[in-house]
Amino acid sequence: MNAIDNAVNQFRTLLEEQIARAGRMQNAAPAKDFTKLPVVTIGVIDGDGIGPIITGHSTRVLEALLKDEIAAGKIVLRRIEGLTIENRLAKGQAVPADILAACKQCDVLLKGPTETPKGGTMESANVTLRRELDLFANVRPVRVPEEGIDWTFFRENTEGEYVLGGRGVTIPDTLCMDFKVTTLPGCRRIARAAFEFARKNGKTNVAIVTKANIMKKTDGTFSEICHEVAKDYPGIEAEDWYIDIMTAKLINKEARGRFQVFVLPNLYGDIITDEAAQIQGGVGTAGSANVGDQYAMFEAIHGSAPRMIETGRGDYANPASILRAAEMMLRHIALPEKADALARAMDACPLAITGGKDGATCAEYCDALIASLA
Ligand code: IPM
Ligand code: MG
Repeated sequence: MNAIDNAVNQFRTLLEEQIARAGRMQNAAPAKDFTKLPVVTIGVIDGDGIGPIITGHSTRVLEALLKDEIAAGKIVLRRIEGLTIENRLAKGQAVPADILAACKQCDVLLKGPTETPKGGTMESANVTLRRELDLFANVRPVRVPEEGIDWTFFRENTEGEYVLGGRGVTIPDTLCMDFKVTTLPGCRRIARAAFEFARKNGKTNVAIVTKANIMKKTDGTFSEICHEVAKDYPGIEAEDWYIDIMTAKLINKEARGRFQVFVLPNLYGDIITDEAAQIQGGVGTAGSANVGDQYAMFEAIHGSAPRMIETGRGDYANPASILRAAEMMLRHIALPEKADALARAMDACPLAITGGKDGATCAEYCDALIASLA
């Protein structure tokens, strides 16, 4: 068989798989109400590099914050071991099957950063977990109150360039093609999540950010479906923006304060949320929620910082990002007072973390939070 036939056959398989996925979305089970669970099981995953340090100390903060709920059996904090680069490489699986099964026994997950092997074919553990748990909404808030910035990004988390990453086609010595996939139910559910959030939080504007002038099929459909969903939210303005000009607007101090909620396809969302986090003070300061109908995963948005470990600075790692993620998790499971208490403790903490010996250690910082929560 020649290279073109091979590629065409591969494309047929991909199409069939994606049509089946769209069908599963359409027939999905009703969403679980995370605010009404009698017992919430929180799975805690350490990750790699600085992951065990920031996750371990943050867990102590959660244990202090939730001591009554834990004692009453309403909250269970459960460590899920083994999502390490060594174990994943040994098993040849981005998320080993027993770990995935353990994740599915929990309601929500709090996850430290995991390393993605360079090269090779192994997928990132994040991308695998997002797909396997169908965590379609990547929600990333960015706030700079003194500048009037209060943004919430709804990044589609299971489609676009990511869903078939690594499964493109190659015609040897000639060309290669990757695929970008947008399904109608996939657009509908992320649009619904963004507009529902806007409605519940008194927001009046949702920016739909695409490159629909070029990516006519995929982004064109994304925008179209967002506008269709917007019709159910009469008080909320739905505005189209192109991703290139939006990246410029976000660094325009006069223009950026007007934005409230953003809804956007996967790759644009990945890129622009790093830009936004930097405006807030760096990726280390931002939390991230990956929300689906049955599960939700809350994670630090930075990487595993292997260099900090190599240079012996691991103990000085900053837990702010994972603690902000924990704050989002507490809101998701209907403990807003606990989330507020954690946020207040962090905002008022006099200790500064610099990542080096001139700053506090992760342990000292978390001890200070625990003391102020008592
Ligand atoms: C993120 C990260 C991930 C992504 C990586 C680690 C796969 O950049 O959560 O934004 O691209 O989604
Ligand atoms: Mg990213």
